[in-house]
Amino acid sequence: MANTILVGAQWGDEGKGKIIDVLTEQADVVVRTQGGNNAGHTVHIKGRKYILHLVPSGILRPKKTCVIGNGVVVDPVSLVEEIEGLRKLGVRIKDNLFLSETAHLVLPYHRELDEQREILKGKHKIGTTKRGIGPAYGDKAARTGLRVLDLINPERFKKQLELKIRENNEILKAFGARPLSFKQVHDSYRAAGNYLKDFVANTVILLHQAVRRGDDILFEGAQGTFLDIDHGTYPFVTSSNTTAGGACTGSGIPPHRMDRVVGVMKAYTTRVGEGPLPTENAEIADMLHAMGREFGATTGRPRRCGWFDAVATRYACMVNGIDELAVTNIDGLDSVETIKLCIGYRDGSRRCDYVPNDTETLSRCRPVYAEFPGWRTPTHDARKWKDLPAKTRSYLKALAELTGASLSIASVGPGREQTIAL
Ligand code: IMP
Repeated sequence: MANTILVGAQWGDEGKGKIIDVLTEQADVVVRTQGGNNAGHTVHIKGRKYILHLVPSGILRPKKTCVIGNGVVVDPVSLVEEIEGLRKLGVRIKDNLFLSETAHLVLPYHRELDEQREILKGKHKIGTTKRGIGPAYGDKAARTGLRVLDLINPERFKKQLELKIRENNEILKAFGARPLSFKQVHDSYRAAGNYLKDFVANTVILLHQAVRRGDDILFEGAQGTFLDIDHGTYPFVTSSNTTAGGACTGSGIPPHRMDRVVGVMKAYTTRVGEGPLPTENAEIADMLHAMGREFGATTGRPRRCGWFDAVATRYACMVNGIDELAVTNIDGLDSVETIKLCIGYRDGSRRCDYVPNDTETLSRCRPVYAEFPGWRTPTHDARKWKDLPAKTRSYLKALAELTGASLSIASVGPGREQTIAL
């Protein structure tokens, strides 16, 4: 499989969890490199549903090494809960999970600040997951963050936390929010630190050893291209680099050791949270929600839905260097009579063939659509390219051509077996 970076090519929730799970079969090591427990990767195996937030999806297969890399922000208390939850479901977690000692911590004041800032922004809010991700990465960039290696050093952690709680309680008071109890935070975090200490490692060295051995490494991206802090629809983004470059900085593996980039995209578009979504469409949203689809894995919020946006995915292809496409949720369009596909934007009389950086301009953009006849046949039993209706194949071919990469995986349902390799 070689070293593969997997990224979301839209606004997150592209179905990466399932594709990662499929690709993991051929990988030796699976690494998370950015984001935190704002992510929610759903994997269905033999009728059982697993939702992963911080633990790489590779954990669901035996004999895979899983790494939470230095670029991730970790809420240790929720990581412990996640590990415990997985163990209860029978997942073996011992000597197969490693946590970077330089990953930054998400603390309760980050979550409080996330919430307070959103309240203050009112109708201009970002619509964050309220997991404290922005404030945690903010502390990292300001060089005032605490890291995993601090958490497992009881004396140092106590001193650092005391200062941080004092400082942040002043800020919380200014917001009119309740200050935090040092003791409560300290005790719960130290307990989590004790639980996690056996997982802590220098993951950069560990990953380079894997590279030297010739192991195949899968870098599992979280969120999607348009939530990237640099390349997304700022400020309606998350606080990390969700694009391919984030896999290098978030793991310590250099770019020339990466062999390919796989971009995951849905056969339509979804987004949670605020911000522009040019192809948003109420009808397709109602249809998908009525089918019980498109509710967030982390917050349960209904996702906003729209038609496939080839302008956006072409841009994602360029920024990430996507070689191969994995298209998911094809079966979500099984009952649609006429499928629209966005091939350009119009801003007043001006035609635009790329995603404008100014979100105000993007909000004004109206999609230019090409139309495709729907196949109106269930696709979830298709296992080979030829099993798909001709109209589905035409739509997927057009989507790949417009995006500018080759189609390598088509997914027709949540199960591992509902996957067509091309
Ligand atoms: P934050 O990452 O919680 O700060 O949220 C910032 C934006 O990213 C919001 O629009 C969230 O809905 C979105 N977001 C964060 N994580 C995910 C994800 O895993 N899937 C989809 N959207 C996400």
